[in-house]
Amino acid sequence: MPKPRVFVTRAILPKGFDLLKDHLDVDLWPGELPPPRDELLRRVAGIDGLLCLLTDPIDAALMDAAGPQLKVISNMAVGYDNIDVKEATRRGIPVGNTPGILTDATADFAFALLLAAARRVVEADRFTRAGKWQTWGPATLLGADLTGATLGIIGFGRIGRALAKRAGGFDMRILYHDPSIPPQPDSSARAVDLETLLREADFISVHTPLNPQTYHLVDAHAFSLMKPSAVLVNTARGGVVDPLALYDALHQKRIAAAALDVTEPEPIPLDSPLLTLENLVIAPHIASASLHTREKMSVMAAENLLAGVTGQRLPNCVNPQVYA
Ligand code: DGY
Repeated sequence: MPKPRVFVTRAILPKGFDLLKDHLDVDLWPGELPPPRDELLRRVAGIDGLLCLLTDPIDAALMDAAGPQLKVISNMAVGYDNIDVKEATRRGIPVGNTPGILTDATADFAFALLLAAARRVVEADRFTRAGKWQTWGPATLLGADLTGATLGIIGFGRIGRALAKRAGGFDMRILYHDPSIPPQPDSSARAVDLETLLREADFISVHTPLNPQTYHLVDAHAFSLMKPSAVLVNTARGGVVDPLALYDALHQKRIAAAALDVTEPEPIPLDSPLLTLENLVIAPHIASASLHTREKMSVMAAENLLAGVTGQRLPNCVNPQVYA
């Protein structure tokens, strides 16, 4: 019996890939960059399963190009805003993701960015390398204290809560805004409306998925409510923060600083005015990039793919309605 045919849009870590090799007829895109759209459409024709990354837009045209035998779309990410899940559901195609396993790595990185922006770590490195360190200066590169400060967390799912846990170690007061979850009675964090969070927080960290409700949630109005000393961190999706409003807020010192692991678009164009700002730290979407986390994500994505092509329920499925 022929093995199920799958297309894998980028080399995943061997721990995950090794699970596929023996059981499937794997076509692996060899490039370091995502397959161009026409290539993607060509390569998916006739496949039973697709393992894709958050950089691959998976829409109705792609599902058409694959054909009606497509049984599973497995995304190696917890976020799935790159996939038209509604369309996949309409066609009865289960979509897999990788929840839970990247919570700690992502919360660690959000906290690293928060500290980096608060204490101007990247700016200090540039300062040193530029030969500007001439003496110990009482007012050189002054930053903000975390201890006792208020952290506002927008989106209080797994990663938001893991960030709150870390912030507890710094004696921070925690506010959160998340209309999708009921107030957490056992938590020292306080649920507030978005406006209160924006007004009261010294540090604001974004942890919502990107969807029509959260697109540009942090816009010019949101920045106008923040303290001039506020520091914004985004490790969720670039589209949650309006980049033009962010530029204005940082340039005009409406807020003190920001640190981003995600941008809109990605990668950030080299001529983006954001890259001219000293009070902005930018990382290339690496919050989950610890070796063990990426290994676990590769394995989970492979397991979703294998389950899907063999007609079993995906261990982690974002549209379980397809099984109803
Ligand atoms: C995800 O999984 O959605 C992350 O953004 C990738 O690290």
